[in-house]
Amino acid sequence: MAEVRLVDIEKKYGNFLAVPKQSLTIHDGEFLVLLGPSGCGKTTTMRMIAGLEDITSGDIMIKGERINDKPPKDRDIAMVFQNYGLYPHMTVRQNIEYPLKLRGMDKASRKDRVMETAEKVELDALLERRPSELSGGQRQRVALARAIVRTPSIFLMDEPLSNLDAKLRVTMRAELKHLHHELGVTTVYVTHDQMEAMTLASRVAVMREGRIVQLDTPKKIYAEPADLFVAGFIGSPSMNLIDGAVKGGVFRTDGVEVPVDLGDRDGVVLGIRPEELEITQDTDAAIGGKLYALELTGESTLVTLRNGPTSVCARGHADFEADIDSPCHLVPKDGARFHLFDRASGERLR
Ligand SMILES: Nc1ncnc2c1ncn2[C@@H]1O[C@H](COP(=O)(O)OP(=O)(O)O)[C@@H](O)[C@H]1O
Ligand SMILES: [Mg+2]
Repeated sequence: MAEVRLVDIEKKYGNFLAVPKQSLTIHDGEFLVLLGPSGCGKTTTMRMIAGLEDITSGDIMIKGERINDKPPKDRDIAMVFQNYGLYPHMTVRQNIEYPLKLRGMDKASRKDRVMETAEKVELDALLERRPSELSGGQRQRVALARAIVRTPSIFLMDEPLSNLDAKLRVTMRAELKHLHHELGVTTVYVTHDQMEAMTLASRVAVMREGRIVQLDTPKKIYAEPADLFVAGFIGSPSMNLIDGAVKGGVFRTDGVEVPVDLGDRDGVVLGIRPEELEITQDTDAAIGGKLYALELTGESTLVTLRNGPTSVCARGHADFEADIDSPCHLVPKDGARFHLFDRASGERLR
């Protein structure tokens, strides 16, 4: 097990600044998720930790030791790549077995260990195939099996579930979580999927344009997003972000009137999550407009109303029915949390 520290690390590709100078400490045994949209620098950060990418400046410390110049194979890291990185001339069995062979484990133990691991990721029937004879999802599972077949100091996983079908992805998520509970290995996990981040992480580092914009527990990130970007990125459906102004302790815009604890101010964004709103018959309710769309998700119905430029989504009862374009009113549930942001800077206001 190991603590990983990134100290003022920076990465430039020629003149392009992919990751601006920043620091991050990943605690021993932690499951840290780097979350952000495509191109925000997640893979680059991970490859620097693995030693596959030079650092332009700064230091990487593992277990207190500066490892900037240590080759990847000496960092005691197991990695799952976005593009699998399997050995094409080897069978599935040989691919999974390879890290054990490298470390000199005897043949009988290797066989048992490979079988055990293959069963975990449902590959036991495919052990004699070559990667070219597998689907994308199956290849990804081989890559995962090869990483978890031994217990390194650090796991680095770059979108390891992104090519699996939805059902297997959920199964594998639980499998990874259980595995982390069992082994307690420090893990850095990259994803653009906020649900994956929320369910797996001890802490989430939300990244944007190479920068970490918030580093917190999933709970804290959900309850107190640091800025508009995080607020809009976490949660599905996304938080309603409504533009308006505050005057005399009331946030106002077309169809919306909500008392808030904030001084007079223009350019304010009010955030409220769909699950914290409910449909009401009260025509004086805080939010009013015309019903724009109804979407049944199974366990609930997503209700979208519009009023001028304002669009608000609420998670209603699965049985809710009404005519499109009919009047519609929403009220915040008891204890609902409002978020206030500055439109210009994006920063959280309280
Ligand atoms: N080898 C490279 N040369 C030049 N630019 C690169 C290289 N690798 C990545 N980039 C750029 O760096 C940024 C971050 O890329 P990456 O770390 O792969 O993002 P992510 O994994 O979050 O999708 C992107 O703008 C990407 O185009
Ligand atoms: Mg990537």
